[in-house]
Amino acid sequence: MKILLTYFSFTGNTEKVSEAILRYLHGNEINCDVFRIEPVFKLSYPFWLLLSFIPGLPFPVKNLKSLDLENYDALILGSPKWTFNCPSVTYFVRFLKRERLKAKSPSKIFLFITYGGFREDSYIQKLKMDLEISGFSVPVVGKFKRSEIENGKAVEKINKFCFEVLLSLNPPHPNIPKP
Ligand SMILES: Cc1cc2nc3c(=O)[nH]c(=O)nc-3n(C[C@H](O)[C@H](O)[C@H](O)COP(=O)(O)O)c2cc1C
Repeated sequence: MKILLTYFSFTGNTEKVSEAILRYLHGNEINCDVFRIEPVFKLSYPFWLLLSFIPGLPFPVKNLKSLDLENYDALILGSPKWTFNCPSVTYFVRFLKRERLKAKSPSKIFLFITYGGFREDSYIQKLKMDLEISGFSVPVVGKFKRSEIENGKAVEKINKFCFEVLLSLNPPHPNIPKP
């Protein structure tokens, strides 16, 4: 069983959650690699903000050619919630869909977002549906609020998310700890 944890993070919150997930998985002897989604150019906040208002707009991501999804049994995808669109994640999702069409990607994706506190539910549901329409199964989703990540209160939720991930693996992880 091998998982790929892949995430985009601009200001560090999604990265913090990813690190906590990685610690949990490694602590439970799950083999997990990490791929950080990096745009080809670093843009400043006002530019990203502008692009985030354009639904479905992709922004190219580095190093996808070196990423072989066939090595993995499941993916975890983490994204910040950006207005209507996080362009680097949109680009990465398009890559996932192409790989899925070629049967080169695992079918299971565990999804999580971090957010400030505005319209996160519809955002994650849309992302989930978009993946499901393209043939992925998304059995577990997680939402982690920026303020809770910053004050440490997200830990319990992150552990619960990881617990559900272990429960959903096929075959399920043999020795699942309580969340
Ligand atoms: C361009 C941009 C747009 C954002 N739009 C929203 C939004 O619509 N709703 C919301 O709850 N948070 C929004 N946020 C806040 C982020 O979702 C939140 O801070 C998140 O944790 C950032 O993750 P990161 O630190 O990994 O980049 C936005 C942040 C940025 C930079």
